[in-house]
Amino acid sequence: MVPQWLIEKKRDGNVLSDDEIRTFIAGYTDGSIPDYQMSAMAMAIFFQGMTPQEIAVLTDAMMRSGDLVTFENWPRPTADKHSTGGIGDKLSLMIAPLAAAAGLAVPMISGRGLGITGGTLDKLETIPGYDTRLSIDEFKRVIDKTGCSIIGQTGSLAPADKKLYALRDVTGTVPSIPLITASIMSKKLAEGADTLIFDVKCGRAAFMKTESDAVALAGSLINVGRALGRKTGAIITNMDQPLGRTVGNAVEVIEAIDTLKGAGPVDTRLLTIELTALMTVLGGIYPAMDIARERLTELLDNGAALNCFKQMVEEQRGDCAVIDDYQKFAQPGATLEIKADAAGFVQDVDAEAIGRVVLQLGGGRQKTDDVIDPAAGVDSLVQQGDVVEPGGILMRLHAKSDALVAAASARAAILINETPPPERQLIIRKMY
Ligand code: URA
Repeated sequence: MVPQWLIEKKRDGNVLSDDEIRTFIAGYTDGSIPDYQMSAMAMAIFFQGMTPQEIAVLTDAMMRSGDLVTFENWPRPTADKHSTGGIGDKLSLMIAPLAAAAGLAVPMISGRGLGITGGTLDKLETIPGYDTRLSIDEFKRVIDKTGCSIIGQTGSLAPADKKLYALRDVTGTVPSIPLITASIMSKKLAEGADTLIFDVKCGRAAFMKTESDAVALAGSLINVGRALGRKTGAIITNMDQPLGRTVGNAVEVIEAIDTLKGAGPVDTRLLTIELTALMTVLGGIYPAMDIARERLTELLDNGAALNCFKQMVEEQRGDCAVIDDYQKFAQPGATLEIKADAAGFVQDVDAEAIGRVVLQLGGGRQKTDDVIDPAAGVDSLVQQGDVVEPGGILMRLHAKSDALVAAASARAAILINETPPPERQLIIRKMY
């Protein structure tokens, strides 16, 4: 099969056969198809799109480019959740142990933050000692013992995606639904979970800015999951405003622990329960969403989910003392309160602007090899609809030495008005 003929076929809007896609990806993975031909193919896909069958085969070929984690004859149903990434999105930290407490096995392989979007691994690594680099055997041992484990990408899972994602990044071919679908799904499917739930973020701080794009991506993820024999569902959630009242690394883990203790902000708790309910219903633990919501609320409030989190941290060599004593997290060198100058209702909290504030404070990375400050970030953040008085705290900034650098942008991210804002629609659409 001549690679340029396949590029031409896709360029001219034709459908590639299963065999042609598999051969192309195999050639790219083993190096016999060079980057320049893969770039041309990615651009042809970008403009011509792919049929659902082509996307499913592309995903399957990329998934099979490396090792596959398997859970055959496992005592519990397996399930995982994936988020397309947002500001203050600490949901994985609660969802994995809550789903485990309900009886699922949760193999979760997560990523690091880049740009304004945070990463679950960076958050977990603020727990002193927590090891995100387990071998696949150790990963499975922790899941068997505690019901869940959260680790980082291993180079051996979906290596074709690793190569292709780096190439897309520099060839203008990232925002293509077939390529995004195959990228996300090849990694998730290689983890081996039977049920996959997607939290597709939509809004100004999300990858997908409009509802129609978010729906298209969610639909594509669901189609591929089902075509490859998994139970899949998605919830489209609002990412115009940050989730919860913290954005950063240690501060988000603290908020997650608060939520696991039965407290936490209303939006964070609501999405934790909703997404886990979908996981547990599709995973066969509960027969219906309303029953699932009720049971999961109990498991959050009675400490069962917190207990699973504690066990996972312990098994991954983290210091569980942080759960009862937040002073054991790295502490910021400087803290600054941003205050309201007038009374009113919080109309808007610009998630994208808050993401940039956290970057300025040192809590995020611009390049993949940047080192982050675990204590940097924002807490006590107001939310849309909150009432503030003159001098009331809008947020607290934490940094290594100088929090003033972000003070002006932090203040500009909050809009206060005399009239109450419309109610925030957190869940935009459910697709299952
Ligand atoms: N996340 C991924 O893993 N891949 C993409 O292509 C986009 C977002």
